[in-house]
Amino acid sequence: YNFGKFNVARNRSNYKKLEVQNIQIRIAMGGIDQAFVQEPEQRSKPSTIEVDGIPVIDMSVSGTGGIEKLASEIGNACQKWGFFQVINHGVPLELRQRVEKVAKAFFDLPIEEKRKAKRDELNFTGYHDEEHTKNVRDWKEVFDMLIEDPTFLPASPDPDDEEIRTYSNKWPENPPEFRKTCQEYCREVEKLAFKLLELISLSLGLPANRLSDFFKHQTGMLRLNYYPPCPSPELALGVGRHRDGGALTVLAQDDVGGLQIRRQSDGEWIPIKPIPNAYIINIADALQVWSNDLYVSAEHRVVVNSERERFSIPLFFFPSHYVKVKPLEELVNEQNPAKYKEYSWGKYYVNRTGSNYKKLEAENLQI
Ligand code: SIN
Ligand code: FE2
Repeated sequence: YNFGKFNVARNRSNYKKLEVQNIQIRIAMGGIDQAFVQEPEQRSKPSTIEVDGIPVIDMSVSGTGGIEKLASEIGNACQKWGFFQVINHGVPLELRQRVEKVAKAFFDLPIEEKRKAKRDELNFTGYHDEEHTKNVRDWKEVFDMLIEDPTFLPASPDPDDEEIRTYSNKWPENPPEFRKTCQEYCREVEKLAFKLLELISLSLGLPANRLSDFFKHQTGMLRLNYYPPCPSPELALGVGRHRDGGALTVLAQDDVGGLQIRRQSDGEWIPIKPIPNAYIINIADALQVWSNDLYVSAEHRVVVNSERERFSIPLFFFPSHYVKVKPLEELVNEQNPAKYKEYSWGKYYVNRTGSNYKKLEAENLQI
């Protein structure tokens, strides 16, 4: 390894990202590159537990009290699981199918073609085939794009935030309809994210627009995930265990399955059943902090299989870069004091993507 890079990474992130044991060459196992091999306690095991799974919530509202009832179902799911699925959500199926089609066509291209739109040190958008979660390589390829926002403020209004960089999207030439389709899809799913934000505000006993001021500019990122079949699915993971850092994630998964969440009560890994045309919604760290731990940002991971490729499309809904995140005043009092320190979303995010390590996971901000 390069000592200079090692030392910079180490000092900048104040975390021993490349600790000596991570540089060790591990003994080849299962015919897959060692970079993918999970520590034994992180590997997926065949499970025998029977579970009902996370709630499935119908977003079509009718009659008096319909909105309140919907908000309360969402609030219960956010408390108990931090995850739920939604149906009748308003995102057109035809659009979802079109974005799935361009994603497949893109990942089907030869690797040299995909790498023309590759992520680089200065710009994290675009194609990437070496994603790591907690220093172990994920068995997947990704394509990331920011949700484009013409009102984006290139300079933060906060003078402390000068470190926050701005990024622009990288687009592949092929398939030709890739860019337009993804942009159209981002706009529709973003509408759903705003709707959910309102319902979550109501579920916390707050006005529907209480959280929307935090989402005025540049509200996040769309990711296309491709998980190829894996010859040793018992050793590797599609994505290692993690929590999402933003506010909410709105995820489309195909019919293959593989996403699992860690149940709060007993730490069991629970599979999330694919439901055609549903979206999986999960609370991420900023919402856990705003709610002062009433809602949970649950750990999750993706297991792989040796038979079928899997595609998924998360939209990570983020606060604006300059937003300072801390427990909402209305939810804090003497009996229930703030459990988190205030942090700048933009700085947190730049750090997180820069070092590829979730340095500031919710528990590290706890008071
Ligand atoms: C993720 O949590 O990053 C991916 C989820 C999925 O592919 O289902
Ligand atoms: Fe995630």
